[in-house]
Amino acid sequence: MFPLLWQLFLAALAVSAASPSKTVLEAKLKRNNFPVSPFVTTRGGEFFVNGSQFKFVGTNAYWLHALNTEEDIDNTLAAIRAANFTVVRTWAFNDVDTIPDTGTWFQLISNGTVAINDGPNGLQKLDKVIELAQKHGLYVLLSLTNNWSPIPGLDSPLPPGFNPIQNQEPQGSGSNATLPRNALSNSYGGMDTYIRNFGGHQEHDQFYVNETIINAFKNYTTTIASRYANHSNVFGWELANDPRCNSSLPASTRCEARNVTQWHSTIAKHVKTVDSNHLVSSGLLKERKAALKKERERQKRSGKLSGGVNVRGRWTASETKRQADLSPGPAFDGTHGVDSEDIINIPQIGFGSFQLFPDQYDYSSSTLDTNLPPFNQTLQTGLDWIRRHAEAGRL
Ligand SMILES: *[C@@H]1O[C@H](CO)[C@@H](O)[C@H](O)[C@H]1NC(C)=O
Ligand SMILES: *[C@@H]1O[C@H](CO)[C@@H](O)[C@H](O)[C@H]1NC(C)=O
Ligand SMILES: *[C@@H]1O[C@H](CO)[C@@H](O)[C@H](O)[C@H]1NC(C)=O
Ligand SMILES: *[C@@H]1O[C@H](CO)[C@@H](O)[C@H](O)[C@H]1NC(C)=O
Ligand SMILES: *[C@@H]1O[C@H](CO)[C@@H](O)[C@H](O)[C@H]1NC(C)=O
Ligand SMILES: *[C@@H]1O[C@H](CO)[C@@H](O)[C@H](O)[C@H]1NC(C)=O
Ligand SMILES: *[C@@H]1O[C@H](CO)[C@@H](O)[C@H](O)[C@H]1NC(C)=O
Ligand SMILES: *[C@@H]1O[C@H](CO)[C@@H](O)[C@H](O)[C@H]1NC(C)=O
Ligand SMILES: *[C@@H]1O[C@H](CO)[C@@H](O)[C@H](O)[C@H]1NC(C)=O
Ligand SMILES: *[C@@H]1O[C@H](CO)[C@@H](O)[C@H](O)[C@H]1NC(C)=O
Repeated sequence: MFPLLWQLFLAALAVSAASPSKTVLEAKLKRNNFPVSPFVTTRGGEFFVNGSQFKFVGTNAYWLHALNTEEDIDNTLAAIRAANFTVVRTWAFNDVDTIPDTGTWFQLISNGTVAINDGPNGLQKLDKVIELAQKHGLYVLLSLTNNWSPIPGLDSPLPPGFNPIQNQEPQGSGSNATLPRNALSNSYGGMDTYIRNFGGHQEHDQFYVNETIINAFKNYTTTIASRYANHSNVFGWELANDPRCNSSLPASTRCEARNVTQWHSTIAKHVKTVDSNHLVSSGLLKERKAALKKERERQKRSGKLSGGVNVRGRWTASETKRQADLSPGPAFDGTHGVDSEDIINIPQIGFGSFQLFPDQYDYSSSTLDTNLPPFNQTLQTGLDWIRRHAEAGRL
């Protein structure tokens, strides 16, 4: 929900059993004559670049393009590289409904029409981010839209007692905030900006099901994906941050996981037709091969899928944690209109990711030893969370 805190973002959930050694994998690649690609690809559940396995630690800096000067962007990327990160996730969208006096914007969405800003405070800023990332030896994972785009002061305030400063949440994430655009806030547009300015049903899931809005978004992805299709330091495309039924605009009662899954499939296919070089991440729902589906069902029934108790990664919020639970939950088990297990099975989806907020949420673990000190419990549930996602990615 809060991208500012999303520090831990990438995991190769892309289909594989046990992780073979680097040399074994590389030998296998050679034997099978896999094309050596300068782009990031996946084979056997691992990432590859230039024929070699690519292991990395990534970080999140969604606001890079909104920094004021080229020098700021350059310095930030230099610092990120100096800390030994080699992948940076960042926003490749910035939607507005009126042209702002100052600051960066990429797309004007107004009264049912869209227009791209190609100028120095528009996509040229994103060009610069990608160029400077390359200079520093960094790959960029580009997100194409956001589930969250609350209007400060208009959308629902944060729960009583929640202090956005103390808890370091970006004001604007559903709060009554007054921070200006392009500060550390969520004011970068996103799904609700389309819905609000296309003027149809004011329901968040219109973004996933309404043909007019889907076409407008496809159009945006065409612009962006074609612009960077040949850039080898683009890690891949992330279709959306935190996609789900609900947002500042509420979900309709007809929103289901399959709507969100279908959307992922539609958009992933579209991005691949524009840019076949790069991986696409997040999204859902190919129909599983029947046998695979049956086996997964069997494992689920027998409890084998995730250690016996929490069959589909359902977590519980606990008041004993430092922060009360504010999130609408994990996008893992279908509860919030998202089934990430289905999404990573979409053929065009190259890898999955998961979120882990070890200091904020309690991820129930079937194997948790409650006699351990709190730190060790957190560690154990975190490791279990990663393991469960990795298992889901293999199925
Ligand atoms: C892959 O090769 C390209 C072209 O030679 C080079 O620019 C890039 O740095 C290489 N990437 C890695 C991860 O080695
Ligand atoms: C980055 O990696 C290099 C090489 O492994 C190491 O010498 C250096 O200490 C690392 N820097 C940080 C900030 O961890
Ligand atoms: C929005 O577009 C419609 C149809 O093109 C037009 O009739 C209307 O005047 C526009 N409204 C505004 C506020 O521009
Ligand atoms: C597609 O994008 C272009 C460039 O922003 C814009 O001019 C055009 O109106 C868009 N078309 C649709 C159907 O949204
Ligand atoms: C937002 O907060 C300001 C002052 O903090 C207050 O005056 C205003 O009424 C609040 N607006 C809403 C919509 O809650
Ligand atoms: C889709 O959205 C457009 C624009 O908001 C609206 O005019 C149209 O009625 C919507 N279609 C459906 C089927 O709801
Ligand atoms: C990418 O490069 C290839 C080969 O140079 C070229 O054919 C293609 O048009 C380029 N794609 C884009 C979207 O620029
Ligand atoms: C979601 O998909 C189902 C099945 O196709 C459909 O019945 C339902 O109307 C969809 N939801 C929305 C909001 O369109
Ligand atoms: C959306 O959020 C509301 C309020 O939290 C909740 O009652 C509803 O079940 C949610 N709907 C979906 C589809 O997640
Ligand atoms: C808790 O974790 C710390 C750090 O990994 C470790 O040193 C310590 O032994 C653990 N304590 C217990 C009781 O497992």
